This record gives sequence, C-alpha cells and structure tokens, in this order.
Amino acid sequence: MKIAIRTVRDDAEFESWHRGSEAMFGAPESDAELAVERALVPLDRTVAAVDGERIVGTAASYPFEMTLPGGGTIPVAGVTMVTVSSTHRRRGILREMMSFQLDDVVSRSEPIAVLNSSESSIYGRFGYGIAELYQEYRIDTQRAAFGRPVPERRVPMRLITKAEAHKELPSIYDRCRLSKPGMLTQPEAWWAGVLGERQTWKGGGSLYVVVADADEAAGTGPGYALYRIASDTPSGTWKLTVIDMQAADSVVEAQLLRFLLDVDLVGTVRFESRPLDCPLRWWMREPREARVVHVGDFLWVRVLDVVRALSARRYPVQDELVIDIEDPFGGHGSGRYLVSGGPDGASCEPTHRPVDLLMDIAELGGIYLGQTRPTSLASAQRMIEVTPGALARADAFFGWPVAPWCTTRF
Ligand SMILES: CC(C)(COP(=O)(O)OP(=O)(O)OC[C@H]1O[C@@H](n2cnc3c(N)ncnc32)[C@H](O)[C@@H]1OP(=O)(O)O)[C@@H](O)C(=O)NCCC(=O)NCCS
Repeated sequence: MKIAIRTVRDDAEFESWHRGSEAMFGAPESDAELAVERALVPLDRTVAAVDGERIVGTAASYPFEMTLPGGGTIPVAGVTMVTVSSTHRRRGILREMMSFQLDDVVSRSEPIAVLNSSESSIYGRFGYGIAELYQEYRIDTQRAAFGRPVPERRVPMRLITKAEAHKELPSIYDRCRLSKPGMLTQPEAWWAGVLGERQTWKGGGSLYVVVADADEAAGTGPGYALYRIASDTPSGTWKLTVIDMQAADSVVEAQLLRFLLDVDLVGTVRFESRPLDCPLRWWMREPREARVVHVGDFLWVRVLDVVRALSARRYPVQDELVIDIEDPFGGHGSGRYLVSGGPDGASCEPTHRPVDLLMDIAELGGIYLGQTRPTSLASAQRMIEVTPGALARADAFFGWPVAPWCTTRF
C-alpha cells in the first residue's frame, strides 16, 4: 500500500502522532508535556506518513525567528520530531516527508529551515549544513581560580524559584538572544518545557535558577543560569551541570561564571553548551583546566530563499561575490547570485556574471552564520574556487566576529 504524506487532522490524531514520535526517541512524555507540544506545534506545521490508518512517520516545524550576523532576525522553520517507525525504515519515507516539509516551508515564505540532528549522516542530502558548533566544558572547582579580578557589580544575584523564573527569564533571554547569531525566539509556551516538572530534552525537573539583575548605574545588563546539582557523592565532590546560561554582556557573564564555579560542596562543574568564543579559558589562572570535553554540532541551516537569506544578514567587510548554488534536493536555492554587502547592509540578486565560487546549498547553510570557513569546505572538496583569490575573500566576507550559538533545544 502506498504511504500517504499529509498533515495531522485533529487533536486526537495529534496524540497518536506524538506518541509515535516519542517511541522512536525512547522518551515517553506525560500528558502535561503533550499539552505543551500541542500549544507549540500548529497542526498545519505537522507532517504524518500514514500507512492505511497507522501513522508510521512524523515531522513538524516550530515557527522561530533566528538572530543573524549583524543583529537582525529572520523567520525560520525549526524542524523537529522527525521519525520513521522501525517497521518502515529505509523505504524512502523520510525523503518524502522532507520534500513535503520543505515545500510547506517555502509556501509560508520562510527563507530558512533549521534543525539539530540525532546522527550527522542524515540531513546533508536534504540541503542542511552545519552552521554552529558548541563546546562542553568540565572544570575541577579546586583549579578554577581566575587570573584577574572579576569586574564588580553593585546588584546582588538572586536565587529564584521556577515560578519566579517563568516571569523573569523570558525577557532576559530575549535581550540576550539578539547578541549572538543562531539564537532562536522561545515563545511563551516554550518556557513551560524549560521550567517543567519533569526533566526532558527541553530542560525541566529539579533545577536551580540564579538571576543577575541589570545594574543601571554601572550600565551592565542582566543574565541568568539554570543548573542542576547531583549530590549523591561525598560533599566536596558534588557535580553541578549548567543547563543554560545567558548574559547580556561580558561583566555579567564573568560574574555568573564565577558564581557557578564557587557553589559550595561542588567538585566538578559541567557547562553543557558554551559558544566557541566563550572567554572562560581566558579568565582562568590555569587555562588548561577549562577542559573542553566535547565539541559538537548543534544548529544545521537549510537555505530555501537565497536572495532573502543573504540580503538579511550583515558582512564584516565590504565586498561582493558571485556564487553558483546547486540544490539537488528540490531545487529551491539553485541559481547564480551576486551578493554584495558590508557591515551596514547587503543585497543579493540572480546574475549572469562570471562565477567566483561553486557550492551546494548545504555548504551555503554551513557558512551562513559566519563560523565555518569557505576555505575549510574547499579543502574538503565541498566548495570550488573559480576566480583565484575568491576563497580568501569569502572567508573574510562570510565570517563574523561573534561565534554563533543556539541554546534552544528543539
Ligand atoms: C532517521 C530516520 C528518520 C530515517 O528514516 P527512513 O525513512 O528510514 O529514511 P529514508 O528511507 O527516507 O532514507 C533517505 C536516505 O537517507 C539515508 N538515511 C536514512 N537514515 C539514515 C541514517 N540514520 N544514517 C545514514 N543515512 C540514513 C538512507 O539511506 C537514504 O539514502 P539514499 O537517499 O542515498 O538512498 C529513522 O531511521 C528514524 O526515525 N530514526 C530514529 C529517530 C531519529 O534519529 N530521527 C532523526 C531525528 S533528528
């Protein structure tokens, strides 16, 4: 029987669709969590693969706004809950769902889709490229002294309850997210997951929340950290895990880092995700003790509307390049484009001018947020320089001084 690909029809079907997705991730959710997801995912953004009456494949997308190099934002589809039942794997169902979903994103005039991937072999074929790497630190608190005094703030930090956090964190997050490319909007209902009763992928469970208020007199911004403490070992060896930490500026960032490294009875602090340009190492008296235990890919970018995507971001140097894009999955981004821009503005248009660089759409996604260097991709035969010198220019042009980061777990 042919598998039908369509959206989920109603709330009752949403439940069986969601339960199917949960089963493939091995993470059954409570009724309350299901209600949160229902609030976050409009039915017309779902994808169901249906065999007869049975749902055998799932996908969906959240409507987000993503921060760009330069501080602007752009609408993106945050692809999520992608599963195919083990009974129906490797028959092309994922391929069909991806095609259906990208057409849907295009029809909504969302120029970009983003996701994070359970396995890095899956999504390149659908035009997604790795746009953001994060680092995970593990630090022995005995060797975590800083080499310089932390800048002072007059406003004390406050440990607050999760109920208070619901009221306070969203506006702090919103202020912080605009300073880093790759950060996503988190709608009201999102925080019910982040601060929920049960521990899930989004957060929740037993959490401590520390808030640093803005110090108006000193002109410093706010920040917060969400963390857990595992206290099932002798005191002094407890493990503190930082789930999220946002800071509006480097002063409050240093204060929060110091706070987290100084919690009594804790022996090890693990930061689950920090951007690659996190200054922690440079604060430490023993820089090597800021141990990076993992560098991983998180945000993958799939450009669908090249003109809109490339005109929306800013570029650190004034230049222009002609790029020829091959988009083998659906052809949405195929074409030759002239992109011109600099720190104050940019434009992109189809062109017939001689080409400088050839690349697939996944590579454009990879360089979009300014982290991956075109030269690295060309060294791995993922990009071709046609005009001599174009790669070096592209490194400078597509780069960005602030490392991308994404802390929304979707
Ligand atoms: C990943 C998953 C969705 C793939 O579904 P599927 O229907 O079996 O995939 P398809 O048959 O449409 O495969 C399409 C292509 O992707 C490849 N592919 C699919 N899953 C892959 C994987 N895990 N690793 C490498 N390649 C994979 C297939 O070989 C096929 O390649 P081809 O086009 O060159 O022939 C499914 O295995 C699954 O649900 N896994 C568990 C949940 C999960 O990890 N989801 C992804 C969340 S980010």
